Amino acid sequence: MRRSAVNTTGHNVLVTGGSTGIGLAIAAAFLEQGSRVAICARNASALTDAAAVYPALRTWPCDLRQEEDLRRLVVRAKEEFGGLSVLVNNAGIQLNYDFTREAPEAILERIDDEVDTNLTGLAKLTALFIPVLKQAHDAAIVNVSSGLALVPKRSAPIYCATKAAVHSFSKSLRWQMEDSGLPIRVFEVLPPMVETAMTEGRGKGKIAPEQVAAALLAGMRKNQSEIRVGKVRMLAPVSRFFPRLAERILRDA
Ligand SMILES: NC(=O)c1ccc[n+]([C@@H]2O[C@H](COP(=O)([O-])OP(=O)(O)OC[C@H]3O[C@@H](n4cnc5c(N)ncnc54)[C@H](OP(=O)(O)O)[C@@H]3O)[C@@H](O)[C@H]2O)c1
Repeated sequence: MRRSAVNTTGHNVLVTGGSTGIGLAIAAAFLEQGSRVAICARNASALTDAAAVYPALRTWPCDLRQEEDLRRLVVRAKEEFGGLSVLVNNAGIQLNYDFTREAPEAILERIDDEVDTNLTGLAKLTALFIPVLKQAHDAAIVNVSSGLALVPKRSAPIYCATKAAVHSFSKSLRWQMEDSGLPIRVFEVLPPMVETAMTEGRGKGKIAPEQVAAALLAGMRKNQSEIRVGKVRMLAPVSRFFPRLAERILRDA
């Protein structure tokens, strides 16, 4: 079913991981468009810093790995906003591993942290918010994946696997919404390398988080389900038609 584009003004928005980087830029872009915006993250001082820059932001501390924290976000959205119309699943962490050298015990806990944050927390929060979102007008779920969802790199195998999973999850969820007739749009945004704490000290040719936020809002207005940003626009066809070339480029990224 073909759906109309989403208006990006006047929403009640929650941005996970909205205290820094891409999440903060997305939160600021929605604020600028006349929405009420809440951000959540673990570090209280980063939330306070974000609110010092954007006083209109609501700050809801949470750890996406904790189910009770996820439930508390739903309660706060109902209490403070009377509901929610846009859920931006942005929070994520990226850890490096060398499975050939590290002791298993050094790896296991980090796998849990990364999968619970990047995938399990995202899917559980989505499930918890669907009953709320379906009451809203022009509702949307936005999942922030990555170009690495399409082609992995060697150094961050769990991160790339979680992003590929978010890419797949976003498609299935979109099809479920379309077939059920539930009025919730599902967007996925696939950024390239962005200048944030996550990429500090590595990579070249990084774009600003504000460019990702602008591309997201423009993509929502254009009804673009998969919003590929910057170099990912080129990566998508290359990975499809020349997969070996794409893997050679990304392997040591
Ligand atoms: N930077 C890039 O090049 C790039 C490229 C493609 C995709 N992405 C994706 O874009 C998203 C944002 O990344 P970024 O670069 O902006 O990273 P960032 O600046 O490190 O921000 C990550 C945010 O997630 C929050 N967070 C991490 N773990 C959390 C948890 N367990 N519970 C709640 N919040 C948590 C962090 O706050 P606390 O630590 O205080 O919790 C922070 O607000 C991620 O999903 C990332 O994978 C980034």
